[in-house]
Amino acid sequence: RLLLCLVLLLPALLAVGMDDLVTSLPGLLFKPNFQTYSGYVNANTEETWKMHYWLFESRNDKDKDPVLVWLNGGPGCSSVAGMFEELGPFYVKFDGNSLFENVHSWNQRANVLALESPIGVGFSYDTKTANYSVANDDQTASQNYQALKDFFKRVQKTYGDRDFYLSGESYAGIYIPTLSKLLVKGIKSGDFPNKNFKGAAIGNGFMDVPKLMNSLVLWGNYHGRMAVEDWDKVKSECSTGGSDVEKYDFTKYFKSDNGMDFFSDGSVCGNLTAPMLVLDDNMDQYNFYQDCYAGTSIVLPNVGRGAKGIKRRRPKRSAAWKFADSENPANDIWADSTDTQQGYPCWNEDAVTFYLNRADVQDALHIPQEWRDSRKQWVDCNDPIYDQYHLTYTTTYGFFNYVLMEYDQPFRFLIYNGDVDTVCNYLGDAWLMRDVANNNDMNHNPRVQWYFRNQSAGYSQNYQSKDGSKNIDIVTVKGAGHFVPNDRPGPSAQMITNFMFPQQANGMINYSDDKLVDPVPTPLPLVNGGNGGNSSPKPGDSTTSSSTTVSLFLAMIIVAGAM
Ligand SMILES: *[C@@H]1O[C@H](CO)[C@@H](O)[C@H](O)[C@H]1NC(C)=O
Ligand SMILES: *[C@@H]1O[C@H](CO)[C@@H](O)[C@H](O)[C@H]1NC(C)=O
Ligand SMILES: *[C@@H]1O[C@H](CO)[C@@H](O)[C@H](O)[C@H]1NC(C)=O
Ligand SMILES: *[C@@H]1O[C@H](CO)[C@@H](O)[C@H](O)[C@H]1NC(C)=O
Repeated sequence: RLLLCLVLLLPALLAVGMDDLVTSLPGLLFKPNFQTYSGYVNANTEETWKMHYWLFESRNDKDKDPVLVWLNGGPGCSSVAGMFEELGPFYVKFDGNSLFENVHSWNQRANVLALESPIGVGFSYDTKTANYSVANDDQTASQNYQALKDFFKRVQKTYGDRDFYLSGESYAGIYIPTLSKLLVKGIKSGDFPNKNFKGAAIGNGFMDVPKLMNSLVLWGNYHGRMAVEDWDKVKSECSTGGSDVEKYDFTKYFKSDNGMDFFSDGSVCGNLTAPMLVLDDNMDQYNFYQDCYAGTSIVLPNVGRGAKGIKRRRPKRSAAWKFADSENPANDIWADSTDTQQGYPCWNEDAVTFYLNRADVQDALHIPQEWRDSRKQWVDCNDPIYDQYHLTYTTTYGFFNYVLMEYDQPFRFLIYNGDVDTVCNYLGDAWLMRDVANNNDMNHNPRVQWYFRNQSAGYSQNYQSKDGSKNIDIVTVKGAGHFVPNDRPGPSAQMITNFMFPQQANGMINYSDDKLVDPVPTPLPLVNGGNGGNSSPKPGDSTTSSSTTVSLFLAMIIVAGAM
């Protein structure tokens, strides 16, 4: 009977290209009600560039819900890390060995497809060159296009006509507009297999370098980082034409070696304003108000990460959390804390790196020997890729215009920003999108507050084309830094889901709507009634989660029954 099921099931799996099903994930503490698939798609026609993907099926209706592609930035940082550290359903415990649930994961109503891009990042690799680390904007866009083309071809039956959206963060502010242009071209020419490209969401995007740098000087001054005397001097001496300080082009006083990281050119104005571009080492560039605390109890070997404190990454620091003291409530108030997550943002990178370098985890994710021979270590962000990278597009303005003007289907951009990020601040991105909206003669709708669980979650503003078919939503997420899904999990899940399911006839989205996503989700049941965490494996141990195996067999019987 069981054998029969397996025989029947095999073609069903292969039909969706899904010999990549993840059947057991070591250290899983809960019983997922969704499946995941991990494997490779080709990122060039020669099939020498193997891009790793991890697909998280929707918790709701995997057969109808859209595909949401996710890309982390860097350049050189892994989207699989983004799954564990931000929007995926699995978060890693501080022991680096077990996975607990992110109840606000973005696969609530979407099949989330994480791509480790470009080639060289994470588990992605080149079959000809070990440690391949050559990347640039156009090559990355092409790799992403080819990888998605290969994905949709392989899963034609399941996903060929499915609505799909792009999403990503930070340097994906360049990946996504450049890829969107290629997709629109490919759909128009008939080259791309899925025509239902519906929208793109960019979080804290690196989309316009001059606008981000210039706004960051203002942001720094207005967040208490400069003496009033110095600011007066900036206003009087650093004008680049006109007297409106908001329109000064401070980038005239900056230098850069790679088009991404800037420093003073040695002038008076450069020396006054360039310090606004970076925070001190003991602060978090990615969240102005987030602290991590020394005195950690977390014992993980220092794995994987490059030693350099590169600006576009989360700094590695230690953290400690003072757990509740039921004896004396006076001890429960921790006056120093700015941390809602028991230090998770501070140590998750180490925990993820430890977890993904376990051989049994790599087995579960179908990572081939070829990758293991070439790369040996999975790292969150790849230093050689970043170090050789030189940005090509200082602004993505033309790519947004191309999509809005040339695409003959309705389309929506969501530009969301955690409002306390300094790396890619909300103001520079808002300036860019205002210019794009004006260039496309779009209506400006009023900026309104939006809510999550009846609390203010930020502001949203809509720009709409005269015929209503093109929309740009500008959303700020209150109190979030660069990594919005991690800093504000619930609001971010509500936001991204509403983005994919516009409910209003006029094409506008009410980001406060909580009909589609449960704002107070109940965690899924634990394995072994909750004792899973006590049996955390030692590094190198091979474990199988009984729960995923059981649910796989259930799925097999259901599939077989349906046939
Ligand atoms: C700017 O700062 C640099 C480094 O401290 C210094 O060498 C240079 O003289 C300063 N420029 C001016 C105009 O003061
Ligand atoms: C690739 O780089 C890693 C980390 O620097 C190193 O351990 C490994 O030996 C390299 N692989 C090859 C084949 O050179
Ligand atoms: C928000 O407020 C309304 C009206 O008071 C209430 O019915 C609802 O339960 C609240 N929602 C949440 C998530 O607390
Ligand atoms: C948006 O949705 C919220 C929550 O359902 C509701 O209270 C509010 O009235 C809606 N706003 C508009 C403009 O429809």
